[in-house]
Amino acid sequence: MPIVLPHWNPSAPLQPLRLDWLARAAVEVAVLRLDLLDPLISGNKWFKLKPHVEAAAAAGGDGLISLGGAHSNHLHALAAAGRRFGFATVGLLRGEPQDTPTTRDLQEFGMRLHWLGYAGYRERHRADFWQPWCARYPRLLPVHEGGGGLLAARACAAIVELARSQLLDLGWSGYHGWWLAAGTGTTAAGLVLAEGGERQVHVAMAVPPGHGVEGQLRAILHEAGRIDTGYRLLDASRGGFGRIDAPLAQCIDDCERASGLPLEPLYTGKAMLALRGEVEAGYFAAGTRLLLLHTGGLQGRRAMAQRLEELAAVRQE
Ligand SMILES: Cc1ncc(COP(=O)(O)O)c(C=O)c1O
Repeated sequence: MPIVLPHWNPSAPLQPLRLDWLARAAVEVAVLRLDLLDPLISGNKWFKLKPHVEAAAAAGGDGLISLGGAHSNHLHALAAAGRRFGFATVGLLRGEPQDTPTTRDLQEFGMRLHWLGYAGYRERHRADFWQPWCARYPRLLPVHEGGGGLLAARACAAIVELARSQLLDLGWSGYHGWWLAAGTGTTAAGLVLAEGGERQVHVAMAVPPGHGVEGQLRAILHEAGRIDTGYRLLDASRGGFGRIDAPLAQCIDDCERASGLPLEPLYTGKAMLALRGEVEAGYFAAGTRLLLLHTGGLQGRRAMAQRLEELAAVRQE
């Protein structure tokens, strides 16, 4: 059945973040809580998926097919959107079949799963990768891993509007920059495009340098006809995408206890730890106002909850 475009424009609150290390440096931070956008289709995911859903609907397609890992926030949001709005979804997964909270949800949401193995998944960048899948699912639109690219980045401009529309409620007349986590750099590119060089976008890379963020950001800006500026990259990866260490777990724990803000370890927790490092090192002048983008991902935390708790407790021993 062809996709009927959903009329859905969810909102998310912009909230002041009160933490002692921010107060000591006289730096003000407000968090755009995209984790509260929707109980299931949360974070930056809907912004990046929307143009793909629109493209599939315009082509008269029945749904979308995409790629991800066994904890993928992208596949989770896609599957949830498929169920909510009544379109078909297929997920191509990295590795061998695994039972995780995420894969259980994917199945419950009605996503059809295919496990590609590790070698099969590595083929995803080949020019002919999609051929057999498009032959098998001719009425589904293929979406690259993470839903990246210029189309998705442009859709992320709506994030900037969402924050700006709430500044006065905080008593802010303006702000100096953005702080966010990056996996592919698509969301960050969207903010850079929307800011047009007016304000700096601080990009906390959740993957180590050289793992694609730099090139993807540059490529999106180039495709949009913009010069490669308006952002700053920081390595927030802790030495690897999936690596969770005690300082990271403790930062997440401290932040949640002190402010009630929930974070997960792969993206938002790393962004927070990197922010704390820069603030404590005096990078930002007193009076700086920053918008921190909470990009969601809390569903993925379920599989890591115990490890996080153990690591956060290390300091108390
Ligand atoms: C929770 C979360 N935050 C941030 C990101 C990074 O977004 P992007 O790939 O647009 O850089 C992702 C996905 O990649 C994510 O799942």
